[in-house]
Amino acid sequence: MSPTVADVRSHSGERPITMLTAYDAPTARIADETGIDVLLVGDSMGNTVLGYEDTLSVTLDEVLSRTAAVSRATEEALVVADMPFLSFGVSEERSIENAGRLLTEGGADAVKLECGAHTVDLTERLVDLGIPVMAHLGLTPQHVNQLGGYGRQGTTAEAAEQIADLADRHEEAGAFSLVLEHVPANLAAAVTGELSIPTIGIGAGADCDGQVLVVNDVIGLGEWSPPFSRRFGDVGGEMERAITAYREAVTSGEFPASEHSHVEEGVEDPY
Ligand code: KIV
Repeated sequence: MSPTVADVRSHSGERPITMLTAYDAPTARIADETGIDVLLVGDSMGNTVLGYEDTLSVTLDEVLSRTAAVSRATEEALVVADMPFLSFGVSEERSIENAGRLLTEGGADAVKLECGAHTVDLTERLVDLGIPVMAHLGLTPQHVNQLGGYGRQGTTAEAAEQIADLADRHEEAGAFSLVLEHVPANLAAAVTGELSIPTIGIGAGADCDGQVLVVNDVIGLGEWSPPFSRRFGDVGGEMERAITAYREAVTSGEFPASEHSHVEEGVEDPY
């Protein structure tokens, strides 16, 4: 049965929740068929598939279009759409409208917000209106210009306390789960122990209630992947082999062969 937001929220901890990003229909279909619990249409699409330098340039329309593609191809998994940079937090009204569009037009089941003190009230408001919120703390790439890069977060007692406090406040505000990115494993374990909603870690150790990775890193498509991720396949290599074979077959005249063409009587002299 398809997991609902309530299922994820009340996760009993029997087995880790599996979450993976997806940005298109074929990938979503395959991931869904393997039994992944949650598909995240992450704004990581900026770096992974849209060719941007970072996630800041990703627009709501881009996330909307990709979310709709993923939703159309997904039967079982919960689909969560990332709210891109400045699509939330500038004004409450616009934030609600934009989050709502990801559900009504994109077919998402929930939205994810890169969080800070400014998203506590917004989380409460969205949840009140029926828009489930997945919170995201630790490394929040939309803050790259403030953080000065994509390094570890929560590495001092003060920073760890800040993350723990924001985690508590977002749970109280009604978030149904929390992504913890690139934080010490012992901090993630402490937050996981404290919260009743499930934590989903990325570079946050093994004690979170679930794990999420970027699909391009998992399948081996892309030039760079972060130190906390693992490559489980070589799709990039396989694409290169297939495309090279195609190019060679065309240039050598081996493709298309007669079985790839058809001949129709009476059309050989149209002039
Ligand atoms: O955009 C994304 O892919 C994410 C995950 C890395 C959690 O936010």
